[in-house]
Order: sequence, then structure tokens, then C-alpha cells
Amino acid sequence: MKKLEGKTALITGGTTGIGLATARLFAAEGAKVIVTGTNPASLEAARKELGSAAEVIASNAGSRADIEKLANDFRARSISLDVVFFNAGVAKFGSIAELDEAVLDETFNVNFKGPWLAIKFLAPLLKRGGSVVFNTSVNNRLGMPGSSAYAASKAALRSLARTAASELAPAGISVNAVSPGPIETPLYGKLGMSQDQVKGFSEGLIGKIALGRFGRSDEVAKAALFLASDDSSFMTGEEIVVDGGLTSL
Ligand SMILES: NC(=O)c1ccc[n+]([C@@H]2O[C@H](COP(=O)([O-])OP(=O)(O)OC[C@H]3O[C@@H](n4cnc5c(N)ncnc54)[C@H](OP(=O)(O)O)[C@@H]3O)[C@@H](O)[C@H]2O)c1
Repeated sequence: MKKLEGKTALITGGTTGIGLATARLFAAEGAKVIVTGTNPASLEAARKELGSAAEVIASNAGSRADIEKLANDFRARSISLDVVFFNAGVAKFGSIAELDEAVLDETFNVNFKGPWLAIKFLAPLLKRGGSVVFNTSVNNRLGMPGSSAYAASKAALRSLARTAASELAPAGISVNAVSPGPIETPLYGKLGMSQDQVKGFSEGLIGKIALGRFGRSDEVAKAALFLASDDSSFMTGEEIVVDGGLTSL
């Protein structure tokens, strides 16, 4: 029996990296998958790669108008959701001295305010027994230099998982988080660092990971599947760390 047979799953930011790997896995487990993203080239590439396994929609996870439009569109099409994986996220690194204030606003918009608004507008479309999964980050409890905007947005998201879990429990909906350590994805090309800086940063991180390597997107997708499926039926408000031992060894 497939783990998501007959279920409908929305994955925000499902066009590349962890979201795309999760879309592939959820579809393979029988789900009807809907993914969102903003970059036209990535949207097109995801459409080609996922084919009939998923519907790929242009929708900005940090825009209230887009989130409301998505919810209204689902309502008009009588789509109700069993699973939502809040995966869309942005990361720009730089010291507090150097980072532009606009980066803080954009990071909080996409990584925290968007999911907060989406809970508000999409929760009525979630079925009893449904699962919400947030993609947080080990940065939500680290003081890594350069991570101030990103880390704080993910700590806020971790907090939201707890509050949303208690508010949605009466409706029979679980809310949990998966917290990845360093995972090899296109994210590292978007940090606002030069290639050399990213290389140095990555080598420094690998030295701290007990398993001695970056993780793969599919390794996070499997944890997201566990939280999205009935396998985690007695879990809510929790966070699973997938970091090769970075933060606890
Ligand atoms: N890679 C890691 O080491 C790591 C570690 C911990 C946590 N995470 C988290 O994992 C999640 C996925 O990241 P990733 O590593 O897979 O990076 P990624 O390949 O850059 O994926 C980010 C995804 O989010 C989408 N996205 C970004 N801004 C969006 C917006 N405003 N609206 C809708 N979609 C948006 C991107 O699509 P478009 O570009 O088309 O918008 C893309 O599909 C993020 O939340 C990230 O913080 C990653």
C-alpha cells in the first residue's frame, strides 16, 4: 500500500532542491501533488520533469494576494488538501553589519509571514486527519555567523509549528517540522556569496558534520513523507532533525 494513496498534497517551492525531491516521492507514494514556485525557468523545468505526476503553479509564497488566490482557486475547483509541505524558502547570508534591511524583510516575508498567512487561508481546506509539515532548518537554533535573517525566520517558523499544532489539533490536523542540516541543493548558489566563499563555507560545515558530507534532498523528502503520512499519526508540534549529526554530536 502506498503511503499517500488518494491524498492531495500541496508543496510550496516544489520546483527545485528539497521541494522537487519531495514532489517526486509524494507522487511515487500515490499522492496528487501540486507544487508552487516563482522562477519561470524553474517552473517550466519542474513541469517537464514531473509531467502528469504534479500540477505546477506560479505562486509567490511571500505574497498575501497570491496565497489568497491559491486558496480561492482550490475552493473553486473543489480541491481539499490532505498534506501541505511549507518548503518555499530563501536564504541570504551576510553579517548584521553588512546585510541590507530589505533582506530581513524579504526573508521574513517568504520564510515566516507567507506560511502564517497560508495557514490562515488554507487551513479551512485541510481535511480532518491532514498533515502540515514545515521545512525549518538547523539554523533555527544555531548562532552561525552571517545567518541572522535566515536563522531568525526559521526560529519563528519553528515556533509557528507549535502554535499551529495546538490550534489545528481540534480539527484533527497535525503540524510538524523537518529541520535539515546542510543539504546539497541550488540554495547555496543563492546565498549572496562568491563561489569561493561558498566553497570555504561548505568545507567548514562538512568538518562539523559527523557523517562527513552534505545530505541529499531525497533524505529530507523521506522525513517529510514520514510526517505527511499516517506513520506519524501520534506526532504533532514536533521537529525531526536531518543533519548528519551536525547539531547533536
Ligand atoms: N539546502 C539546505 O542546506 C537547507 C537546509 C535547511 C533548510 N533548508 C530549507 O529547505 C527549503 C528548500 O530549500 P532548498 O535547499 O531545496 O533550496 P532551493 O533549491 O533554492 O529551493 C527553494 C524552492 O523554494 C522556491 N521559492 C523561493 N522563493 C519562493 C517564493 N517567494 N514563492 C514560492 N516559491 C519560492 C524556489 O522556487 P523559485 O525559485 O521558482 O521561486 C524553489 O522551488 C527552504 O525552506 C530552505 O530554507 C535548506
